[in-house]
Amino acid sequence: MYSMTVRTASATYPVVVGARVLEEIPQRLAAEGLQGAVWLIADAALTTAAADVERHVRAGGYRISTLLVPSGEASKSAQQLQELYDWLIGGGVERRDIVLALGGGVIGDLAGYAAATTLRGLTIVQLPSTLLAMVDAAIGGKTAINHRLGKNLIGAFHQPRVVLADTTLLATLPARELRAGWAEVIKHGVIRDGGLFSALNELADARHWQAGGPTAAWDAADPQLTEQLTALIARAAAVKTEVVSLDEFEQGERITLNYGHTIGHAIEQAAGYQLLHGECVAIGMDAAARIAEQLGLCSADLVRRQRDLLGAYGLSVQLPPELISGGLAELIQRDKKVLQGRIRWVLPTAIGSVTVRSDVPHDVVQQVLATLELGSAQE
Ligand code: GLY
Repeated sequence: MYSMTVRTASATYPVVVGARVLEEIPQRLAAEGLQGAVWLIADAALTTAAADVERHVRAGGYRISTLLVPSGEASKSAQQLQELYDWLIGGGVERRDIVLALGGGVIGDLAGYAAATTLRGLTIVQLPSTLLAMVDAAIGGKTAINHRLGKNLIGAFHQPRVVLADTTLLATLPARELRAGWAEVIKHGVIRDGGLFSALNELADARHWQAGGPTAAWDAADPQLTEQLTALIARAAAVKTEVVSLDEFEQGERITLNYGHTIGHAIEQAAGYQLLHGECVAIGMDAAARIAEQLGLCSADLVRRQRDLLGAYGLSVQLPPELISGGLAELIQRDKKVLQGRIRWVLPTAIGSVTVRSDVPHDVVQQVLATLELGSAQE
């Protein structure tokens, strides 16, 4: 089990990563001095895990009610949020009560926003079930629902009181989703932790896994491998923990987490969400590194090493030909991180280090996008 601490001006809280950490929920709540009733908001695909959480919480002497929310991005809606409010307020929620969010980024964002806004703020404990949420979304207090004009446009910063990432839940993830999550782990290596990048490489070299990466690996059949992967996940979560501690409200350092996301988000939209977020981030990371190379900020070797590592974890850096539609440049311009009309590009300078630039010439971006849209990113 790995434990780390987020320290911001508004909150200090533990992030715990490891097998079966959900069993500790009541002890963790008690350690935080939390004594109210528990309101569990869980992804409807996680009925077994939700029942386990209920059992542990009741065994610890807490009252618990559960609401299952349909899986998928469509649940980050005003309508679903209203259902949460009806359930919480109709059920008599009190200020001292505790909301538990069990699921991936969608549930964390939705339940987090409901907690941020009900009775002017309820305690939220994040219980991430996906790799992406364990290393990124569940840590740092961003909560949101979508608006018809864009993703995450209505939200608030509301730091959790505890984050418990139970890695045994990764066994419930479809292989493709687990694979997509590795993109964010690799991203954290590139932006801030060269040692994590090397450790990811060493494991891939030692294991010689087939293209597809360590996706089928999350089962009890190979405890040594799951232990090694857990250590890498904890190290990636530590990067997020550090970044949020430095910059809670995204005034500076936190933007570096957006590496690969400027082009990644545009691809996500252009592909009509047929590609997973992490798959798009992998393509976006490769494109951003190629932009950095063109600007003389990084070497061709960095681009190759990043591409090789993404490949080793089963992630392609090419757009599937059927999804190539053009129009990425326009979509990029609409990115939330655009400041006064200028895109803030997060670009690698070395493995483990990035810089933020708002002066990237349009033609350099166009050139890299053109290779993507022509399907020749790897040439
Ligand atoms: N997922 C990026 C952030 O939390 O800032």
